[in-house]
Amino acid sequence: NALVGGARAVIGQMPSGWLPGGTPDPLIEKRVALGTQQPRIDGPDKVRGAARFAAEVPMAGLLYAAFVHSTIARGGIADLDTAAAEAAPGVALVMTHRNAPKLAVPPGLGITNMKAAGNNLLPVMQDAQVRWNGQVLAVVLAETQEQADHAATLVGVRYSPAKARTRFAEGKADARTPDSILIERNHLVIGRPQAALDAAAAKVDAVYTTPWHSHAPIEPHAATILWEGDRLTVHDATQMLNATAASLAKVFGLKEGQVRVISPFVGGGFGGKGLWDHQILGAAAARLAGRPVRLALTRKAMARLVGGRTQTEQRVALGADGQGRLKALIHTGHSVKPGHSACDEQYSLTARGLYAAESMETVQHHVDLDCLANTFMRAPGESIGTFAIESAMDELAHDLGIDPVELRLRNMPERDPVTGAAHSQSATALAYRMGAERFGWDRRSAVPGSMRDGEWQIGMGCATGTFPYVRMPGMSARIAIDAGGRATISSAAQEMGMGTATVQRQHAADRLGLPVEMVDVQIGDSSLPFGSFAGGSSQTASLGAAINAAAGKLRAEMLRLAGNDTPLAGLRAREVEFADGGLRCIAEPGRGESFASILQRAGRDSLAAVGESGPPLEMLKFSMHSTSANFCEVRVSAVTGEIRVARLLGAFDCGRILNPQTATSQFKGGMIMGLGMALGEEALVDERSGRLMTTSLADYHVPVHLDVPAIEVLWTDIPDPRAPMGARGIGEIGITGVAAAVANAVFSATGRRIRDLPLTPDKLF
Ligand code: MOS
Repeated sequence: NALVGGARAVIGQMPSGWLPGGTPDPLIEKRVALGTQQPRIDGPDKVRGAARFAAEVPMAGLLYAAFVHSTIARGGIADLDTAAAEAAPGVALVMTHRNAPKLAVPPGLGITNMKAAGNNLLPVMQDAQVRWNGQVLAVVLAETQEQADHAATLVGVRYSPAKARTRFAEGKADARTPDSILIERNHLVIGRPQAALDAAAAKVDAVYTTPWHSHAPIEPHAATILWEGDRLTVHDATQMLNATAASLAKVFGLKEGQVRVISPFVGGGFGGKGLWDHQILGAAAARLAGRPVRLALTRKAMARLVGGRTQTEQRVALGADGQGRLKALIHTGHSVKPGHSACDEQYSLTARGLYAAESMETVQHHVDLDCLANTFMRAPGESIGTFAIESAMDELAHDLGIDPVELRLRNMPERDPVTGAAHSQSATALAYRMGAERFGWDRRSAVPGSMRDGEWQIGMGCATGTFPYVRMPGMSARIAIDAGGRATISSAAQEMGMGTATVQRQHAADRLGLPVEMVDVQIGDSSLPFGSFAGGSSQTASLGAAINAAAGKLRAEMLRLAGNDTPLAGLRAREVEFADGGLRCIAEPGRGESFASILQRAGRDSLAAVGESGPPLEMLKFSMHSTSANFCEVRVSAVTGEIRVARLLGAFDCGRILNPQTATSQFKGGMIMGLGMALGEEALVDERSGRLMTTSLADYHVPVHLDVPAIEVLWTDIPDPRAPMGARGIGEIGITGVAAAVANAVFSATGRRIRDLPLTPDKLF
């Protein structure tokens, strides 16, 4: 098969070196369990209803929380009447700024401080100021949820409103353009892009807009909170255990070890399951009331307290020669980022990696509004950045009369377009060829509006997706082996259903030379060895590196424990390997001893070692990106303008795929989220008041089963020699490029170019 041959050829040219010593991870070649289909460890408990989520943890003496939210965006609280609420049945406490404990502002979530989980970096109930429409003014605790909800309606609030800045257009006037950790050299200029654009044979220069998006996981944010003296335990729905624990410690003036966050299961987290006001308020109220507290946010409360993806206006200008080779690439724009937000929404970075353009300019301007902080949402930056740039590429292809796949292939970069660094592994072109063949791209007509089935206009579109490889340093894992030869891996890692435990069990089995049945995985608790977070598509690589480091230490310690009275006597650690439930000599495979035998002779029940993910040097040395080629077929009604996505296909280039089943789910889930972005998702803000209007799933349209077509996913499966297990991240790549592929298919079907998401029928006429 030509595709496999192509893949082999690429492998043959690759340099080596992820592990110390400059060699690729040996598991790339020696894998047994990795790469095989394995059902999710957490699946059966979830299906049986036995998995306990944050709002389901049983606890005696619970009080239930309800919130009173502000209805203005800025001003003072002139009067707060809590008497009626306090007298209502079942009420134990009404907390306001008048009786709330002193609390510090939480440290802001970022990629450099793994002890920071805060999103909305403002004082929490410390004064009489209102800072956004929806801020909590009072917390009511009662014996039942219904009593708390009722009493919350009895709290009277009088405001002294101040003029608030709530309009995007107003905020654009004095937008800021800072550099940041997420966006180095915000204003990047290479060559003379405007002059190159002016002189280009073909050019596209257009503005693309994307709306606010709301987080809409199946499980709304929730927590069950308990104080025992000065020790705080939070059963949370979170993507970041240790960062949340450390942040809460800071907010309450405690030592880190005094806060424990437990979160074995999360019902969907896409960047929004970090630390927001509700956990802080719940813990503060629990402390005042002297009883444990349960809080389960309603969709409406989520809309007020959990930020979403900011709206953007992006300009993309492309200039090319007659053969479609890019001479200029300009990607600039405006998005909302209040001073109290931790998230840059770095859409302008998309342009920096995708194509080999001769000249380039990227910059993004941050608009400061009086609103809840915007935040991270699956592929922040790339998901909406690819909508703009990949729509523009389609426009350029059409103008030049070049096939859109071909145009992209002509502009694939040989090296990183900005830094000049070599790619660790890159086969986006192969992904395009695999995807185009499987999708039947050759059946597409180049003439828009020329494919038709009765009322239905048919179109096909494609678009590139991209997301950087990220590995977090400092993530730890412990491996313990017991007298029966069974291994237990533990780390404060996160399972949101994507397969964390399942894949690391496969990994540890291969690393330790055990069958998967002999490996257990413990995660989801901040008291386990330090974990980073489930974010940035980084967890698999980070935890993988930690397990590898732990396995290296365990091998040395196991050998030491074996002593001299063993067939392994005299060998050094690097001369032995894990195999057949024990250690054996690499040079003489017949020479070895089982874990059980070594431990028994030493009179030990178990042996354990802890390892840590070291500095991600590979990210600094190499250009590392997961990429994809997205293909979409739409049917657009010529009568109503209804857009139906008939087929979606994603061909992914993400290094090695570790478990086809969990990877397929990740890719498909991301693509469905991209479909939602394309066709439905739009959080509407009333700009007069700064109030979010779409506060239920009836108003905020996520895809339902009938919206979701047959989705196919393929992958190149070429190992990345710089990444643990040969695998780059797959959590976020799936959403990127999908909205552009859909919009480009709509153009192919109708000849109408929609540059404004979502693609609703009204925009077609
Ligand atoms: Mo994601 S936005 O890294 O959860």
